[in-house]
Amino acid sequence: MMKQSTLTDVTLYLIGCGKMGSSLLRGWLRKGATLENISISDPHPSQWLVALSGDGLRLNPSQIPSPDVVVIATKPQLIKNLGNTLSAFKASETLFLSIAAGTNISTLSEICGLRSAIVRAMPNLPASIGQGVIGFFANKHVTHEKVQLARTLLSAVGDVVELSHEEQLHAVTAVSGSGPAYVFAMAEAMESAGISAGLPRDIAQSLAINTIKGAGALMATSESPPCKLRSNVTSPHGTTQAALAVLTDDANGLKGIIEKTVSAARNRSVALSQTGS
Ligand SMILES: NC(=O)c1ccc[n+]([C@@H]2O[C@H](COP(=O)([O-])OP(=O)(O)OC[C@H]3O[C@@H](n4cnc5c(N)ncnc54)[C@H](OP(=O)(O)O)[C@@H]3O)[C@@H](O)[C@H]2O)c1
Repeated sequence: MMKQSTLTDVTLYLIGCGKMGSSLLRGWLRKGATLENISISDPHPSQWLVALSGDGLRLNPSQIPSPDVVVIATKPQLIKNLGNTLSAFKASETLFLSIAAGTNISTLSEICGLRSAIVRAMPNLPASIGQGVIGFFANKHVTHEKVQLARTLLSAVGDVVELSHEEQLHAVTAVSGSGPAYVFAMAEAMESAGISAGLPRDIAQSLAINTIKGAGALMATSESPPCKLRSNVTSPHGTTQAALAVLTDDANGLKGIIEKTVSAARNRSVALSQTGS
């Protein structure tokens, strides 16, 4: 039987335990999931998984009873090979939760069953330290109880937002999925500008990283939105105002660049979901 607020009694089958699968598993264990209730399939399990199997985790079992949730975390191009494994649960109450980028619900339904409850989610890289942001969409067969269960599983690695349309996952991919790379690029640019302004590389890098870290933590905890925080820190005729006159220039400023950046990522996500390459 499923429990929503705790993972203690939830039975899980994780297919693919690489970077994101391991992050999820760590999160579930932090949230109280029970090792004996978790089965994992992965062709080259890490030493960590092998050690956990000594404590009760079921590693590469030949058969498992229908779990509450099957989590699909292999590379997207491998999902079609999982037909026999996934279709074995199609007549059950199992919830299928896929994090595979670009694999849409209709493709998943063909494999997992046309009437199966399927959730598609898009996490991002900071999920690896439990600070991701995850957008998800649930098909019409997912009951309220199962939506809550999906939320509980995904919130183990970050903040979760539910989407009303599957198409919105392209925008999530473009804003938060690829977003960490935009922030890394910003840190690189600040580091290089700091060097040009006269600082040694290590100091310029430390200033860039810790400024982004501190500003991010402030945004996450403040009640003020980013535009208010920005205006609060901008004294008339001061250094920040001089800087923002360049950064927010209407013609060549950051807003236009980020619009184009997100649009390029979104277009690529749409193309990948249509062609797979
Ligand atoms: N990493 C991210 O930041 C991120 C963000 C959003 C979404 N995702 C999605 O998450 C999924 C996994 O990404 P990842 O970065 O974690 O990839 P990954 O590190 O390559 O993990 C995939 C794992 O699946 C295993 N695998 C391969 N064939 C399998 C099979 N038939 N049955 C069971 N396991 C199998 C792989 O084993 P071998 O390596 O031995 O082949 C590997 O351990 C992808 O679909 C990706 O689109 C990832």
